[in-house]
Amino acid sequence: MSQGASGLEPIPAGVANLADFEPHAKARLSEQAWAYFSGGAADELSLRANRAAWDAINLQPRVLRDLSGGHTGVRLFGRELPHPILLAPIAYQLMAHGDGELGVAHAAAAQGAGMVLSAQASMPMEPIVAAFAGEAQRGPLWFQLYWRDDREFMRELLRRVERAGFEALVLTVDAPVHGARDRERRAGFALPPEVRAVNLGGIKKPIDLLPGQSMMFDGLMPRAATWAELHWLREHSSLPLLLKGVHHVDDAREAMAMGVAGLIVSNHGGRTLDTLPPTAWLLRRMREALGPDVPLLVDGGIRRGTDVLKALALGADAVLLGRAYLFALAAAGAHGVAHAIRLLRDEYEIAMALCGCRSRADIGPQLLIDARE
Ligand code: FNR
Repeated sequence: MSQGASGLEPIPAGVANLADFEPHAKARLSEQAWAYFSGGAADELSLRANRAAWDAINLQPRVLRDLSGGHTGVRLFGRELPHPILLAPIAYQLMAHGDGELGVAHAAAAQGAGMVLSAQASMPMEPIVAAFAGEAQRGPLWFQLYWRDDREFMRELLRRVERAGFEALVLTVDAPVHGARDRERRAGFALPPEVRAVNLGGIKKPIDLLPGQSMMFDGLMPRAATWAELHWLREHSSLPLLLKGVHHVDDAREAMAMGVAGLIVSNHGGRTLDTLPPTAWLLRRMREALGPDVPLLVDGGIRRGTDVLKALALGADAVLLGRAYLFALAAAGAHGVAHAIRLLRDEYEIAMALCGCRSRADIGPQLLIDARE
């Protein structure tokens, strides 16, 4: 955890929940950084729909049960975790706070949360693994990849990720190109020169286009991943591979048939294709289609302990926080992130207790009433 001469950075007065960090983050960030971190694609319908979908689900508690000895622990990929909360990959965290990804790693490890480090992290990966290694109660530490059409580069990156000690790879498949990010464009967002994807040095420069060629279909898409690249990744790394951003159940089935270890149900926080359905809806559909055994995680709009409970009731094995922890980072550095995880875990514990759940085994669709049904 980052400690200056005066100790931990203070949590802003009046912060009682994760959303309370948001105005403090906004006040501290430049207009451009705020547009980058908070914005979504186009009309931001998916961004809003994610939250609205969690809100629209109502809970149906059981009462008068003996809950003594209850706990928030879950099992994920054969490991017992103290709670089902991980941090989603978010790029360029030094732009939010000087503690950056390393501060986030210390906070996550101290609070028993998992972390997925973005391929576009702004700090080197090895000290982040070291920050995790010292914590007995730590959650999983995974590395997120975007496919790059440079096999020598990818081979070296995979070697480095394995050597560093990451436990799994997460290939993000829903963002081969940026969405139409209106908010970023309006704000004139550009990465500040001191913030870079430092783990991606040495990558081949994009090819030049011929006159009349399309940047999308002649420049970017021929270099994007296909099922063949997924095969290649499976062959060139012994780490379990998860996919993030699969939307169609047929794609999910194909991925599982190819030996993918699990899926993160995500619409990239509404930042890629707008009007994608909310992830609560997608999660339900995936779980119904894939059966009980496929490891499924979910992100998108998770802010409340009740959201975590609803996600698990819909069949998620764990959840990932996105902007909510990033705003806590911007507002109060690593201390803010640790505080946010603690708040969410406490809320989740309260939600479990008030729903009559002693453990994960008690959490299922019987707890839910969808207000729209
Ligand atoms: C992201 N996300 C993301 N995903 C990914 O796979 N690699 C990345 O580098 C990034 N970078 C990134 C930057 C910013 C600013 C945001 C907000 C999001 C998507 C992220 O992992 C996650 O899917 C969403 O953030 C979840 O939605 P919420 O919780 O932010 O609503």
